[in-house]
Amino acid sequence: MKVEVAPQVYWVGTIDWNVRNFHGYTYTTPRGTTYNAYLVIDEKIALVDTVAPPFAGEMVRRIRELIEPGRIDYLIANHGEIDHSGAIPEVLKLAPQAQLICSKKGKDSLGKYLGPDFDFQAVGTGDKINLGQKSLTFIEAPMLHWPDSMFTYIEEEALLLPNDAFGQHLATAERFADQLPVWLVMEEAARYYANILMPFSPLVVKKIAEIQEMGIAVDIIAPSHGLIWRKNPGQIIETYLRWARGDFKPKVLVVYETMWGSTEKIARALIEGLLSEGVEAALYGLPMADRSEVIKELLDAKGILVGSSTHNRQMLLNMAAFLEDLIGLRPEGRLGAAFGSYGWGSRAVKQMEEALKEARIEVVESGLAIRWAPSEEERARAVEFGKRFARLVKESVFSSP
Ligand code: FEO
Repeated sequence: MKVEVAPQVYWVGTIDWNVRNFHGYTYTTPRGTTYNAYLVIDEKIALVDTVAPPFAGEMVRRIRELIEPGRIDYLIANHGEIDHSGAIPEVLKLAPQAQLICSKKGKDSLGKYLGPDFDFQAVGTGDKINLGQKSLTFIEAPMLHWPDSMFTYIEEEALLLPNDAFGQHLATAERFADQLPVWLVMEEAARYYANILMPFSPLVVKKIAEIQEMGIAVDIIAPSHGLIWRKNPGQIIETYLRWARGDFKPKVLVVYETMWGSTEKIARALIEGLLSEGVEAALYGLPMADRSEVIKELLDAKGILVGSSTHNRQMLLNMAAFLEDLIGLRPEGRLGAAFGSYGWGSRAVKQMEEALKEARIEVVESGLAIRWAPSEEERARAVEFGKRFARLVKESVFSSP
């Protein structure tokens, strides 16, 4: 099955239907993923990116349907992470003369992953390789999402190959975003952005501006995960800008972990208060709720309330893991507060407040700590707390320019 992305540019990647986590279980992938590699056939032949190691044979079979793999002249590694570079050794066994190309920082990561025998030639923004009728231009894209990341651009086809940027973890038989319902593709694009690119949002804005200033036409965006944007690629670019700049709704997530049900009772009272003020709100009990899904929901939420019982003077373990994730993702621009039930000491509430601050979330209310199970009066206090927080969220959303 040949998949032509543009004239003489073919998808030669693989579909990983079964993968359910990425980056060491920090990110769940309930719909699997794809590893996209692209073969550019011209007087010279270039392979842009490869696939994860277990799928090398499948990628080579796909290349063989188009050309003899030994004819590959250039192997472009846009990024050193192994899901894209892991099959380079297999390709080089078949095409030992192929010239390896990566970014300057890619020499570090790829050299370490693949060993010192691989001779990479480093390129920078604006460097170009002519293949005959087509050319490859490179654009460094540090922190989208690693320091070594770069994009490859084929001017003659107005085709951008941005590696991880604009991707989705979505395994399907279709290869193009316009072949599936928009809501599904955008949901996975949002999950991907929130869990991978959110900490680099200022750089996303800068990189998109830089590409727009270069004045290059982009008719197709073919990322290295998920579906290819061939109709209206401007839509995903605009959506990235919106996510990166922080397009918040009056929406609050209540995320909690409970020991004997008391913290859950507080959480339910908070939701009652939030909803009565007309904000959108949802409850996520850990560990039942999928952490990556909660983070996706945070993308357009202005507020977050986190709760945990105190156990052995600590917050509970799944809440600690969630907050560690948030600290790494740095979801700036949101408001937060902490709550929880305690027996002999309420230290978890302070711990969660500190973690929220470290995640660059503005803590706008002192934590709500309630001893043992909430009484009727304390439950009412939690409802009021929710109402106050909702009002702060609404004020903040509606007063933003
Ligand atoms: Fe899909 Fe950063 O690797």
